[in-house]
Amino acid sequence: MRVGVLTGGGDCPGLNAVIRAVVRKGVQEYGYEFTGFRDGWRGPLEADTVTLDIPAVRGILPRGGTILGSSRTNPLKVEGGIKRIKENMAKLEVDSLIAIGGEDTLGVAQRLADEYGIQVVGVPKTIDNDLSATDYTFGFDTAVNIATEAIDRLHTTAESHMRVLVVEVMGRHAGWIALHSGLAGGANVILIPEQRFDVDKVCGWVTSRFKASYAPIVCVAEGAMPKDGDMVLKDESLDAFGHVRLSGVGEWLAKEIERRTGKEARTTVLGHVQRGGTPSAYDRWLASRFGLHAIEAVHDEDWGKMVALQGTDVVRVPLAAATARIKTVDPKLYEEVGVFFG
Ligand code: F6P
Repeated sequence: MRVGVLTGGGDCPGLNAVIRAVVRKGVQEYGYEFTGFRDGWRGPLEADTVTLDIPAVRGILPRGGTILGSSRTNPLKVEGGIKRIKENMAKLEVDSLIAIGGEDTLGVAQRLADEYGIQVVGVPKTIDNDLSATDYTFGFDTAVNIATEAIDRLHTTAESHMRVLVVEVMGRHAGWIALHSGLAGGANVILIPEQRFDVDKVCGWVTSRFKASYAPIVCVAEGAMPKDGDMVLKDESLDAFGHVRLSGVGEWLAKEIERRTGKEARTTVLGHVQRGGTPSAYDRWLASRFGLHAIEAVHDEDWGKMVALQGTDVVRVPLAAATARIKTVDPKLYEEVGVFFG
C-alpha cells in the first residue's frame, strides 16, 4: 500500500506531529510506503510530491507549520480537477489519501470519497476549533495559549496608560479562541461572531471598568459583528473557497469606543502569531493520536471517515458529519462567561 498525505487550508501547530505519527506507525507496523503531496490539493492536482519516509519525519514533532506546505487550492473549481487527481494517483501508484485539514479541505475529501470513489481518510485541523463531530481540533490549544499570554501582557501596559486595549483574535465563524483566551486572560469584554454586539453596551462595560480604577481589555474575534451594520473588513477579496479575508473589526471598535467614551483606545491584532511556532504539549499529544488513528483507519480500509476526539477517545465519524455544519459557541456558554464583563 502506498499512502498519499496532504495538508490543506491555513496552517496550524501540530500538523507535523500528525504527519510523523502517520508515517512512523504506517512504516513500522504495516510496512506501508508514503508520498507527500505539496501544498494541499495542489499536490495531487499537479503531481507535485515530496519524499515521505522515517528520516523525513525525524525532528519535526515540535516544529510549527507543515513540512508538506499548504494552500487553499480547491480542485472542485479546477476544470477536470478530479480526473487529474485520479490520473496522478494512478501514475504515482498512490492507493489512498490522508487529508489533514479544516472544513474546506475535508469538504473536498468527503466529495472525493462519496462521489468519486477515491480512498480517503480525514484528520481535522483548525486553530478555530469550529469543526463538528470532534470535541477539539489540534492547534486550538496553542492559539489560546498565545492569545492568553498576549492579553496578560496587555493588562499591564493598559493600566500604565489607563487606556482601552482592544485585542483582535482569529475566529472566522466561531468565537472559541476569543472565549477561551478572553476568559483565561481576564478580558473585560469578549465579543464573538455568534452574537452580534451592541457598541453602547461595550462602552458601558468599558466605563464601569475605568470607574473601578482599572483599564479595560476588549477581546474581539475577527468575525464578530456589530448589531447594526455589517462585518467590518479591510479587504473584500475572496479565496478559492469563497471566504473573505477577515480583520478590521478591532480597529473599527477602538475608534468607536474612543468616539463614544472619550477614552483613549488602541488595537492589537494578533493575526498569524496565533498560528505560527511550536505546538503546545496538548496539541502534540492530540495531533499524534489523530495520526495514529488515521493510519489505522487506512489499514481497516474505512474510507470516507474522519478521526475525531469524543471525550478522551479518538473515534471515527463520517466525513460528512464533520463538514455538514460549523461547531459554534452555545449561547448559554457565552452567557455564563458574561459575569466577568465590565
Ligand atoms: O480558519 C483558520 C483561520 O486561521 C481563520 O481564523 C482566519 O480567518 C483564516 O484562517 C486566515 O487565513 P489566511 O491567513 O490563510 O488568510
